[in-house]
Amino acid sequence: MSNVLAVDLGGTKIRSALVTPGGEIVAEDVRLTEACLGFKGVADRILAGMAAVAAGRDTCGAGLAVPAYLEPGTERILFAPNLKWRNVDLKRELEDALGLPVWLENDANLAALGEHRYGAGRGFKDLVYITVSTGVGSGLVLGGRLYNGAYGGAGEFGHMVVDPEGPFCSCGNRGCLEGVASGCAIKRKAQELIKSGSGRRMLELAGGDLSAVDSRIVGLAAREGDSEARSILASAGRYLGIAIASVANLLNPAVFIVGGGVARGVGNYLLEPAVEEAYRHVYPPYRGSLKILPAALEGREGVLGAAVFALERLAGSCNG
Ligand code: BGC
Ligand code: NA
Ligand code: ZN
Repeated sequence: MSNVLAVDLGGTKIRSALVTPGGEIVAEDVRLTEACLGFKGVADRILAGMAAVAAGRDTCGAGLAVPAYLEPGTERILFAPNLKWRNVDLKRELEDALGLPVWLENDANLAALGEHRYGAGRGFKDLVYITVSTGVGSGLVLGGRLYNGAYGGAGEFGHMVVDPEGPFCSCGNRGCLEGVASGCAIKRKAQELIKSGSGRRMLELAGGDLSAVDSRIVGLAAREGDSEARSILASAGRYLGIAIASVANLLNPAVFIVGGGVARGVGNYLLEPAVEEAYRHVYPPYRGSLKILPAALEGREGVLGAAVFALERLAGSCNG
């Protein structure tokens, strides 16, 4: 079987890879999503990333990790809150352009598969993967298999309510975890702080440009010891921990794996308070077995999961 194309479509970045049947990444491309380009514009970006990694080589098909709720069966994108897409057929768009089969699945679900197969989740039958990126999401591997729920929507960790009076979320509801712990939420908090007259170091690191203050800048400031940046991340982390404790009570998984571009970028300033808070709130008899680890695949869990997903569907049907 020849290689597959694998894409991790995020709210901020598109990562594409050419992956061998053995899970080896042969070529990689990262470019900005620029959601403002709209559906067609972003679809073209995805195709450009795929062309860059394929570089004229034959491929059998493609797997895509998308930050969205998909219609079971058709894989139509019903709702992608951070891209502001509703009811769009990316699968069809890409299949028509590529002349290859394309499979879509939720980004965090595929990242969970990636970590399960190749990363921090190896050897665990029951795991919860959490991504903290532009949005917040999760993927559940239960009994060794991806768990989708009855309507394909299981694992929407980011839209669990952690504060009913909290800010509005990208989904339109109020009080979701994503509204207080995502990359977007961290950016919003930092910008609000600066507008209120504090957060000087963060503004400096962004070259004085308020709109350039984002979670990456908050992470940089936190590393330097900036207490305001650290407290923004600690607050996001504590909400994350509260939600982890609830999921631990519900599913009692062997391990939680935390990944995503924001979690990776800000490191322990987010993860440590999350872990502390999760232990504080989890059902006491589960405290001893609660395990929370950072993702091991350094941002490649999405593309590797997408490759695994496509390869399973191709299963020997391609010698391209
Ligand atoms: C979406 C999820 C996605 C997550 C991470 C959330 O806003 O609802 O489907 O997994 O962002 O991208
Ligand atoms: Na998910
Ligand atoms: Zn929400």
